Amino acid sequence: MNQPLTDTVLNIDALEGLRSLPDASIDLLIADPPYNLGKDYGNDSDQKSPQDFLRWTETWLDLCLPKLKETASLYLFTTWRYSPEIFSFLKTRLLMLNEIIWDRRVPSMGGSTRRFSSVHDTIGFFAKSKAYYFDLDAVRVPYDEATKRARSRSIFVGKKWLEVGYNPKDVWAVSRLHRIHAEREDHPTQKPLEIIERMVRASCPEGGVVLDPFAGSGTTPAACLRNNRRYIAFEINPAYVQIIEERLKRTRLSLRPVETASKENPT
Ligand SMILES: C[S@@+](CC[C@H](N)C(=O)[O-])C[C@H]1O[C@@H](n2cnc3c(N)ncnc32)[C@H](O)[C@@H]1O
Repeated sequence: MNQPLTDTVLNIDALEGLRSLPDASIDLLIADPPYNLGKDYGNDSDQKSPQDFLRWTETWLDLCLPKLKETASLYLFTTWRYSPEIFSFLKTRLLMLNEIIWDRRVPSMGGSTRRFSSVHDTIGFFAKSKAYYFDLDAVRVPYDEATKRARSRSIFVGKKWLEVGYNPKDVWAVSRLHRIHAEREDHPTQKPLEIIERMVRASCPEGGVVLDPFAGSGTTPAACLRNNRRYIAFEINPAYVQIIEERLKRTRLSLRPVETASKENPT
């Protein structure tokens, strides 16, 4: 059996980490790499020429794909600047399921004056095969009371979908994280837990293994802990790995039954 060592965060280059994993061992890949927009992650990983960036992207993707199980899927964060090339590349190897738009809920202030302001990230959702795992019930969105009341005519009464909620659509409107948000860590491009948890619940069975090769502040491992999934995470910047370790300690503590947690940490 291909059993990788799970619940680990390694301070390592993703290319090296990926080479060390057994084939067909991953249930879900969540990849949020540098977008090549010139950000400072304590290294030059976001400052490549377009050609080098695309070459590097194809290299790590080629290393990832054999690690996926037949039932696995992949979410890849990127921007409109590179999604055409990256998605075309992936479509030669995987089944494309969705292009998800993350609407970052950016307020209408300032922005571009010679074109339209860009306020979304692009997420490619791909599967290894048609047998991919997808648990719709785990991510349904409840209808509000007003909608339920509006559907009270006899033809709707007793309809399961009205009670269980609807299938999330491919535009996800979730505010980007600001300093005032409780979950915010000291990382420039931290993703909201709400987004990563939706991916984890929909696309990885309980107890399954999620791989995040570019862990940043550790949103994927935190989402896995909170949802009873296992994780493997790589992050090249040691300061971010420190942030992840601290974050996971706090997450574990928050998940303990209240009595146990207060006995071990009396205040
Ligand atoms: C967009 S951020 C990830 C943010 C993360 N999803 C979160 O919610 O915090 C990309 C991360 O990839 C890391 N990185 C860049 N090149 C890397 C490499 N070759 N191997 C591993 N990590 C790398 C950066 O240091 C950065 O923290």
